[in-house]
Amino acid sequence: MSLVTVNDLSIEFGRGGAAGGVRAVDAVELAIEPGRTYGLVGESGSGKSMTAMAILGLLPRSARVTGSVTFDGQEITGLRARALRELRRTRIGVVFQDPMTSLNPTMTLGSQVEEILRFDPGIGGRRERRDRAAGLLDEVGLADPARRLGEYPHEISGGMRQRVMIAMAIANRPSLLIADEPTTALDVTVQAQILELLQRLVADHGTTLLMITHDLGVAAGVCDEMMVMYGGRIVESNSAHGLFADPRHPYTQALLRAVPRIDGAEAVEPIAGSPVYAPDWRAGCAFAPRCARRDTACVGEVERLIAPRPVDGVRCVHPGPVPVPLEGALS
Ligand SMILES: Nc1ncnc2c1ncn2[C@@H]1O[C@H](COP(=O)(O)OP(=O)(O)OP(=O)(O)O)[C@@H](O)[C@H]1O
Ligand SMILES: [Mg+2]
Repeated sequence: MSLVTVNDLSIEFGRGGAAGGVRAVDAVELAIEPGRTYGLVGESGSGKSMTAMAILGLLPRSARVTGSVTFDGQEITGLRARALRELRRTRIGVVFQDPMTSLNPTMTLGSQVEEILRFDPGIGGRRERRDRAAGLLDEVGLADPARRLGEYPHEISGGMRQRVMIAMAIANRPSLLIADEPTTALDVTVQAQILELLQRLVADHGTTLLMITHDLGVAAGVCDEMMVMYGGRIVESNSAHGLFADPRHPYTQALLRAVPRIDGAEAVEPIAGSPVYAPDWRAGCAFAPRCARRDTACVGEVERLIAPRPVDGVRCVHPGPVPVPLEGALS
């Protein structure tokens, strides 16, 4: 059984209908299998975080949600706040981009980690909890963890703060870890260390990982499976290997051309145009305004032509093995 399934999930903000409403997530389908690692990639505003928030039960009140999200077979859309909190405390860990906004600046690192362990029935008393907290800080690579417990978030570096956030996210040994741009705020060296840490932890504990990033290279370094989002839709999903070896969607192909190569051999090619998520493109492919393969078929009902599938799917009328150059932005 899948750990998470998302069926026909749509999330809207603002006024409904064509009159100015925003469809942040549009008919998303995905299945997350236990023990595997998934990368959800796409540019800013494509709906990655809102998809994750739906799985976490943390969508803003103003969001209108349709479709279904299950966790371990249980439907979680419409679940009460209390049940969702319990689920997050025991089964789903989460790491966000900026640890400074997630950590409480007025509490020591120790009290924040211990707070999370408070509900663990296997922990006898305060002393044991403190030891576990120190053990967790050690596990995420903080030197001298016992001393760190007495420090405040502003006393440690950004990379260390992110390590503390990861310690808190894994404290109750969740089945699923969601990391939303966990390294975007960090410099490159620290970024690599944090990614390595995440990779080691999920491997050690068999944790399922959903990592969200706008960086295809980062996702590919960590994840077995990839899902590419554009304009609120998953436009392509495949194994990381398959996606790099044989990208089918013109947007994925453009993204791959935009990934800098380490040896610098190839110039990075920016994706022409900017995202247009206007309601009139809703009937067809959201990428069509920027796509060189666009023709009249693309502005029709894309869904009816190509069924989106959770695995190895591509949502395009003209998926192609041969990357074609993109033309300039439409004016
Ligand atoms: N609270 C909100 N109120 C109204 N619209 C929102 C709200 N949150 C998100 N949106 C809309 O949902 C769209 C998708 O947002 P989301 O945060 O999922 O994007 P993202 O892919 O995570 O982008 P980023 O890479 O910048 O984090 C946004 O473009 C925005 O239009
Ligand atoms: Mg986001």
